[in-house]
Amino acid sequence: MRYFPVFADLQNADVLVVGGGEQAAQKVRLLQKTSAHISVVAEDANAELRGLAATGAIRLLAHELSGSDLDGVRLAYVATGDRERDEAISALAWSRGIPVNVVDAPELSTFITPAIVDRDPVVVAIGTEGAAPVLARDLKSKLETLLPAKLGALAVRAQGLRELIHSRIADNGVRRRLWERLLLGPFRHAVLNGTDDNADRILAAELQGAAASRGRVALIGCGPGDPDLLTLKAVQRLQEADVLVVDRLVNPAILEYARRDAERIYVGKTPGGASTSQEQINRILVREATAGKVVARLKGGDPLIFGRAAEEMAALQAAHIEVEVVPGVTAAHACAARVQLPVTLREEVRQFSVVTGATANGEPVLDWDRLAAEGSAFAIYMGVGNAPVIRGELLAAGMATETPVVIVENGTRDDERAVATTLGELTDCVAQRGLKGPAVIFVGLDWATAGLERPRSVAVHRAQRQPAARADLDSPIGKEVWL
Ligand SMILES: C[S@@+](CC[C@H](N)C(=O)[O-])C[C@H]1O[C@@H](n2cnc3c(N)ncnc32)[C@H](O)[C@@H]1O
Repeated sequence: MRYFPVFADLQNADVLVVGGGEQAAQKVRLLQKTSAHISVVAEDANAELRGLAATGAIRLLAHELSGSDLDGVRLAYVATGDRERDEAISALAWSRGIPVNVVDAPELSTFITPAIVDRDPVVVAIGTEGAAPVLARDLKSKLETLLPAKLGALAVRAQGLRELIHSRIADNGVRRRLWERLLLGPFRHAVLNGTDDNADRILAAELQGAAASRGRVALIGCGPGDPDLLTLKAVQRLQEADVLVVDRLVNPAILEYARRDAERIYVGKTPGGASTSQEQINRILVREATAGKVVARLKGGDPLIFGRAAEEMAALQAAHIEVEVVPGVTAAHACAARVQLPVTLREEVRQFSVVTGATANGEPVLDWDRLAAEGSAFAIYMGVGNAPVIRGELLAAGMATETPVVIVENGTRDDERAVATTLGELTDCVAQRGLKGPAVIFVGLDWATAGLERPRSVAVHRAQRQPAARADLDSPIGKEVWL
């Protein structure tokens, strides 16, 4: 970072603009957002600047710049349009230690002006150090639409409440949570909607301590890995949390969206490795919320899909703790999107299921006949470890060896891999490609049926050797069957 962002206090400060054209006028417009006393040095000021001078909004000095014009000046803009004059004025300001910006000449400037989103007193400054002004403009327009017009009014209201709330609530944690409820909840909406009576009522209720120290839990779907797939609500809840209870499949980059001082409790369950039991996790959630904390329970994908949310919600309900579920993008949807694989087709695929390829005891227990039925398409979660069983059962139930299979491992993450194969080659494909998961196995879906081309990022796996013998479909489950 070459330019360090700071906000300059210009309240009643003397500022100087040198130049009388459009660029100088633009800087004057910007400075008029502050209460600074603006002087403009220009022998040939344009109509806008002359008009402003006539109303007393600025002081117009119609002469060549002299050293005394810089006396007491806190900040100066230079836009004479004449390089030599700009250089001389810049040198003068530098020698006097006055921050100076020469328009379109960063090499003559000691500061640059960022793009600004103004919801006074909430101000967002955006800079790219001149590298990509278009990016800054794009960010500005996005933020302009994102930030409510009355956000400033909310900040002013908060400012006015600071002393009162500080005097009424001594505990730091309780105070912070009250601020969060006020600034992110119904009070905020009432202020932004301009319904002041309502805002006052909500404030009074909050101050009375209604639920002030009650903890709550949000089960947050964190998606398959890519933080850009988080919902806005997930980000909000992450920022509110005092404690993060984190699953193994949650991408660490997602924790960046939480407060830095939030406590982190990792409860990863590694397949076959050390893990925290579900009962322990339930106890942690109840313990933290009972202590009055706002708990974010971070889960991969969607919390309600193979996420053991039911056990956690039941434990919380039994303890009378408020619980909220924030949906996330489930692995099957994200992985299908990554390889552009439609999971339904108007004529050919009218239903799509998600099934688990593992159970508590290891092997999957599924209605294989239904899954193997004509036109069936489904996504198998937690299935790579049981690929031989899945293949054997589906073939035994009559599914064709040529049924298309697509496997996406680590979908949306940096180490994502995708491979297209067939049911007959599933076991071989998983073994030879070293697929370990997390992965989703799509069965019964391919691009050709949808009239699409397979994306180049998807490898194709073909059998490496010929069948050794006729398939024995009644052989013990798990045995390799080569067709
Ligand atoms: C315990 S389940 C959790 C599913 C999660 N609740 C969801 O909605 O995606 C774990 C399984 O989800 C799938 N999974 C999770 N993240 C994945 C990813 N990034 N790429 C592919 N599969 C993923 C794998 O099948 C993995 O074994």
